[in-house]
Amino acid sequence: MNTRIADRIPATEITPRPLYESRRDFLRVASLGCIAAGIGALAPGAAWAAQKFANLAHSPYSTDEKPTPYKDVTTYNNFYEFGTDKRDPAHNAQALRVQPWTVTLDGLVARPRTLDLDALLRLAPLEERIYRMRCVEGWSMVVPWLGIPLAALLKQVEPLGNAKYIEFQSLHDTAQMPETRSRVLDWPYTEGLRLDEAMHPLSLIALGLYGEQLPRQNGAPLRLVVPWKYGFKGAKSIVRIRFVERQPDTSWMRAGPSEYGFYSNVNPSVDHPRWSQATERRLGEFLKRKTLMFNGYGEQVAGLYTGMDLRRNF
Ligand code: MTE
Repeated sequence: MNTRIADRIPATEITPRPLYESRRDFLRVASLGCIAAGIGALAPGAAWAAQKFANLAHSPYSTDEKPTPYKDVTTYNNFYEFGTDKRDPAHNAQALRVQPWTVTLDGLVARPRTLDLDALLRLAPLEERIYRMRCVEGWSMVVPWLGIPLAALLKQVEPLGNAKYIEFQSLHDTAQMPETRSRVLDWPYTEGLRLDEAMHPLSLIALGLYGEQLPRQNGAPLRLVVPWKYGFKGAKSIVRIRFVERQPDTSWMRAGPSEYGFYSNVNPSVDHPRWSQATERRLGEFLKRKTLMFNGYGEQVAGLYTGMDLRRNF
């Protein structure tokens, strides 16, 4: 089972979840968690998270919006390796072995490397990033991720001049992920970014959320988070990151090329062929809200797409 930081905090110091979910209290509890983590006996497999909680840095990239309740973030999931119903991953992913775990970076690089989680966490201080997330299906949430900038990881391997794109591969282990015997998607789950998108400071490798290790249903032990793109860009449980010259095909492009493009930027003026993308429903809210271009991150990322036709490159 996932070991939560909260489990290691003396009962008297645990702040009830509703308080945790307001932004100010989230920060307070996160720092409280690091003190407790430093003194408590660690459960096996929890060391990597606890160790870095002591360095938790608040990011200027965080939104001030209220995080979506933890329960919604961790029980309303897409992780097709564990089933296609939103409630399946929270039930079916709990036996996934997340330690030991390694991620291999290879392809067009000067120094290919395979890193374990501890090595990954030595690359940069773990940051709290509260990001708006928008799913292509029309729902959205605000998630307090814990992670390191993707760029910190990619720089380790010294990309060669002809490396233009990055391909991310999730674990594909039919013994642990029985649903991958079905052909609902082309396995392993594969996603991609252009190199400059991947190097953008908003692109994150998440290792936790809500002050805790990443729950398995959310992509433990590490997943990609790209807040200005539809949620499916965020490959979960990543084992391989490959640098390539040509734009890679992704699992969703193979499943529906007219529905899921490579760029997948949140764009309210480009409808999905079967539904509008103009509005979204924030989990936990009743009324729909307008979807923002680049999910509200235009100021930071619009420059990546100067001169591109974002209707054609959807
Ligand atoms: N990664 C893998 N390996 N398998 C998946 O099915 N689903 C994607 C993405 N990453 C998926 C995945 C989709 S469609 C979405 S919307 C997000 O994960 C959902 O992330 P969440 O469950 O943490 O909200």
